[in-house]
Amino acid sequence: MRTLRTQVVIVGAGPSGLLLSHLLSLRGIESIVVERRTREYVEQRVRAGLLEHGTVEVLREAGVADRLDREGLVHEGFQLRFDGGQHRLPFTELTGWTTCMYGQQEVVKDLIRAREAAGGAVHFGIDDVALFDVESDAPRARCTVQDEPAEIIGDFVAGCDGFHGVCRRSLPAGSFTAYEHAYPFAWLGILAEVPPSTEELIYAVHERGFALHSMRSPRISRLYLQVGPEEPLADWPDARIWAELRTRLAVDGREGLNEGPILSRGVTAMRSFVMEPMQWGRLFLAGDAAHIVPPSAAKGLNLAVADVRRLAAAFAAWYADGTMELLNRYSRDSLAAVWQGQEFSAVMTSLLHRFPSDGAYEVRLRRARLQELVTSRASATAFAENYVGLSRARLVAGGE
Ligand code: APR
Ligand code: PHB
Repeated sequence: MRTLRTQVVIVGAGPSGLLLSHLLSLRGIESIVVERRTREYVEQRVRAGLLEHGTVEVLREAGVADRLDREGLVHEGFQLRFDGGQHRLPFTELTGWTTCMYGQQEVVKDLIRAREAAGGAVHFGIDDVALFDVESDAPRARCTVQDEPAEIIGDFVAGCDGFHGVCRRSLPAGSFTAYEHAYPFAWLGILAEVPPSTEELIYAVHERGFALHSMRSPRISRLYLQVGPEEPLADWPDARIWAELRTRLAVDGREGLNEGPILSRGVTAMRSFVMEPMQWGRLFLAGDAAHIVPPSAAKGLNLAVADVRRLAAAFAAWYADGTMELLNRYSRDSLAAVWQGQEFSAVMTSLLHRFPSDGAYEVRLRRARLQELVTSRASATAFAENYVGLSRARLVAGGE
């Protein structure tokens, strides 16, 4: 068996694993990344696309934001439609912070290029990773690298392998607690080759269910529909998708939606999951491997970037002078931010969606909540602070 040595073994080349590897290399710390899928697969995987201001800043500091700064669409507000009317939530006026629309797979492409340019080790197509000795000071991953069995030994292992990864499952039963919640609906998402019909995102609350008009570029629209939890894609031919979007996004009885070829489509389950703690011995989990949120508030990627930034700083402190303080605090500090993100994602999910259990009473309560959001500056500001990520920045600053 071939033995490879490194400082940090990183499992998973999604945004978490790639960004961690890059942030570490900027601090002179070596890592080896092993990814189950091919490079083409991870570069094409369509996911969320709303970057908080703080996330953009991390990517800038890491020197991987040139294309993001050129192509990302900066937003200062969003539109909220309900009861046939439209209202604007001017989040930048309320918080001073903007958001940026830029596809997650574009972030992944930029990070892979940056790792490549720096000579970083990222191995794709490694589908048999198994972890050993994570409680010792020589944790290791065994897998097949270039058709040869290999053992990758590091000082630490970073589990950045997403919700379905192997790292969380390697932990002994009883070493962590999982908190979960499943919603009784899903999102059908499409990417369409058509200029967005709107400059700002439109969140539409409708009696037939929620719809969202988002975008990836001046030529590519991203749209979502609330659908049943087990909805087969086969039940949704193109014409039905567009008709439903037109109905749910209509304002003042008027429909106005640009339609175009659908480039990709998928159904995303709506669930929440948090594991506590996010560390076991020398294994540290980051991003979707440790927590997921329903996509309503687009917090998944932003929480992952926050984890990784904290983890990179903690590893750097250990390599600089052997201090364990930041590593020991990693799980606690990350979880405070994660639960804040969970809470806001739950609030936004229940504000926007029609629940199968809703009666006339719940529908009226939701309408009153929406009215409050668009008439009270205080409510709008509190919402906006969470939406743009300012609440998390305050929490982190308060904990340091
Ligand atoms: N071995 C190696 N790699 C694995 C394994 C495994 N056993 N299991 C999964 N992976 C890889 C996946 O193929 C994927 O490329 O780990 C990567 C995890 O990436 P993501 O799922 O994207 O998770 P993360 O990097 O934490 O990104 C955060 O933000 O918008 C949200 O959920 C969205 O992916 C997003 C997340
Ligand atoms: C997206 O574009 O994927 C998106 C945007 C905003 C959200 C959720 C998803 O709240």
